[in-house]
Amino acid sequence: MTLANIADYQRLARKRLARIAFDYLEGGAEDGHTLRRNRHAFESLTFQPRVMCDVTHVDSAVTVMGRPMAMPAIVGPTGLNGLYIPRAEEVLAKAAHAAGLPFVLSTASTSLIEDVRAATSGDLWLQLYVQQNRAIAESMIQRARDAEFSVLMVTVDTPVHGVRDHDVRNGFKLPLSPSARLIADLLLHPRWCLRMLRQGGSPQLVNLARSLGERANINSQAATMSRQMDTALNWESISWLRKHWPGPLIIKGILSVHDALKAAEHGVDGIVLSNHGGRQLAFAPSPIEVLPRVMDHVGQKLAVLVDGGVRRGSDIAKALALGAQAVLLGRAPLYGLAASGRQGVDDVLGILLREFEITLRLLGRCQASELDQTALDEGYRTQLARLV
Ligand SMILES: Cc1cc2nc3c(=O)[nH]c(=O)nc-3n(C[C@H](O)[C@H](O)[C@H](O)COP(=O)(O)O)c2cc1C
Repeated sequence: MTLANIADYQRLARKRLARIAFDYLEGGAEDGHTLRRNRHAFESLTFQPRVMCDVTHVDSAVTVMGRPMAMPAIVGPTGLNGLYIPRAEEVLAKAAHAAGLPFVLSTASTSLIEDVRAATSGDLWLQLYVQQNRAIAESMIQRARDAEFSVLMVTVDTPVHGVRDHDVRNGFKLPLSPSARLIADLLLHPRWCLRMLRQGGSPQLVNLARSLGERANINSQAATMSRQMDTALNWESISWLRKHWPGPLIIKGILSVHDALKAAEHGVDGIVLSNHGGRQLAFAPSPIEVLPRVMDHVGQKLAVLVDGGVRRGSDIAKALALGAQAVLLGRAPLYGLAASGRQGVDDVLGILLREFEITLRLLGRCQASELDQTALDEGYRTQLARLV
């Protein structure tokens, strides 16, 4: 059966993954309110199309912070991708490159920075979690520089892990440890089991381990990653980051005008408005809701990216109409990956591009850069304010 949209890939991913893995991919904080709100925010917005425009040729490409992209989307950072298929980050990076998009490698990746670079000549960015032992971050930054990663994205919304009911129920922790529930789950998903066995069992946070040094115990590191985050990180830490990273610097996880202004004041190059895909603070606002206000204040000073709930090309168009330069894709490429490996990621990125181009044409716009507030119903601020 032909899969028509991202939701079809989501359903297939649910079928093919062990429950413990799918729930980790899919779940939001607490019982998922913030995750649902992210979708509601997009769904609450309606367009204002123009007709009788010559839309024979459309151009979905954009340039963000000097970096060309085939469409205004970036394959965003997600940790523990080895839970879906072996060598997942290499696959995602190659698929992103083939689609003309950057790929952001997570600190919590299950492939090494060096191996991902060896797999592709594409545009690679590093997402950094700063841990108490700052030498880990410094080592990771140096490795990313050596591997010619181009952008550093520091995630700041995760001083501790959010409350995730499903992971508690599933007893999710690394390394995966056998329980009656897990064994039953594994028996129902033999193919997934085989894939995990092929990579030597439970996926490992190899990037962290390499930057920790060889004597580190990778398993205890994984289990305590959240407890070891640098909870003292603050705006003054930007100068420390700047000392180690001369390239473009983005702060991910901002949700207020206050913090967007702070980021601008401290001279970062860009921000990602993000609630971590609804996985961290329960009842956080949806990034798309705060986007118009943030644009009013820092739109001219910084590159503003946004993520959370992007499942359609029309969502990308809405984010751009509200002022974002591009979106980050979190779960969407992972659904493709978990459903059908590399082909699935190619398909998901292809669907989003096709939907985005169709949306542009139907809006009467020939270029992604022509999208602005006039592409939305005039009442868009009220539509967003009505969200519950
Ligand atoms: C399974 C999973 C793992 C994630 N891991 C990370 C991570 O390691 N670092 C990070 O900055 N964000 C991480 N995120 C958040 C994403 O980068 C992104 O902000 C979010 O997924 C966007 O929402 P969406 O999934 O609805 O598109 C993760 C998200 C998911 C779904």
